[in-house]
Amino acid sequence: MAALELCGVPLRGPVLNGSGTFDAIAARRAFGDALFERFPFDAFVSKTITLEPRQGNPPPRLWETPAGMINSIGLPNKGLEGFLASDLPELAPLPVPLVVSVMGFSRDELAQLVAAVDDRDEVAMLELNVSCPNVETGLVMGADPAETALAVERVRSETAKPLVLKLTPNATDPAAVAAAAEGAGADAVSLVNTLKGMALDPETGDPWLGGRTGGVSGPAIRAIALEQVAAVASRVEIPVIGMGGIASGRQAADFMDAGATAVAIGTESFRDPAAGCRIAAELADLSLSRGTRPTSSTTV
Ligand code: SIN
Repeated sequence: MAALELCGVPLRGPVLNGSGTFDAIAARRAFGDALFERFPFDAFVSKTITLEPRQGNPPPRLWETPAGMINSIGLPNKGLEGFLASDLPELAPLPVPLVVSVMGFSRDELAQLVAAVDDRDEVAMLELNVSCPNVETGLVMGADPAETALAVERVRSETAKPLVLKLTPNATDPAAVAAAAEGAGADAVSLVNTLKGMALDPETGDPWLGGRTGGVSGPAIRAIALEQVAAVASRVEIPVIGMGGIASGRQAADFMDAGATAVAIGTESFRDPAAGCRIAAELADLSLSRGTRPTSSTTV
């Protein structure tokens, strides 16, 4: 029996991955069927795809910060056709529901992506990434409530599958963006994506990252993410997927106490690819010791 339903999709628990932070295809190659027996997440969110293939940003793409990191990856991916032809068949057998993350450089591009992914039964939900800080125009839709509403309105008629809006913390009022997404027909919101940041080469004083700026993630941003999740959850009725530096069950419980229905693990999976299993187990223990079961008989 499913422990929880997220937008009508049964999940065995509330722990997802943050898009782009766990390569399930590479992990399957490395670990074989053992990955399926102990899959670290209760739903799998793909790396964001775009209409055309992308190489991503020039290296270097990562910088370690105190309690976190900055990435400037730039959404490298095979493009819609490449994803459907070669990645989707490898992701479809995963033992958990599949969420495909899409990003468009215009509303029409986003609509094309949504329509194409909607055709595929293997996909349970779609995530609209309107919050990537690492591509030109990546934040244009997601930093502004009116632009966000227009984007959701444009794609809503293209799919009956649940639409999750991935929100940026780099907005003046993330709760207003979430409310606009909800008003336009989004089924859930996920937050936070990374906070825009920068590192300088200590030798030259020039930007270290090939993309000049990047997105800060990890425990360094957890308090900011928690506040934004609480603000969004108190503003919208739709489910909230909370993320931002979660590295333990206790921290996952904080996000759920702040109003999240589910949580996502990102940077911690780079340190420990099995972090999702550990965090889910810690969260379940904590729920039992509190005498509550936030992951059982919850339907949203
Ligand atoms: C990236 O590929 O640059 C990271 C994805 C994101 O921040 O949405």
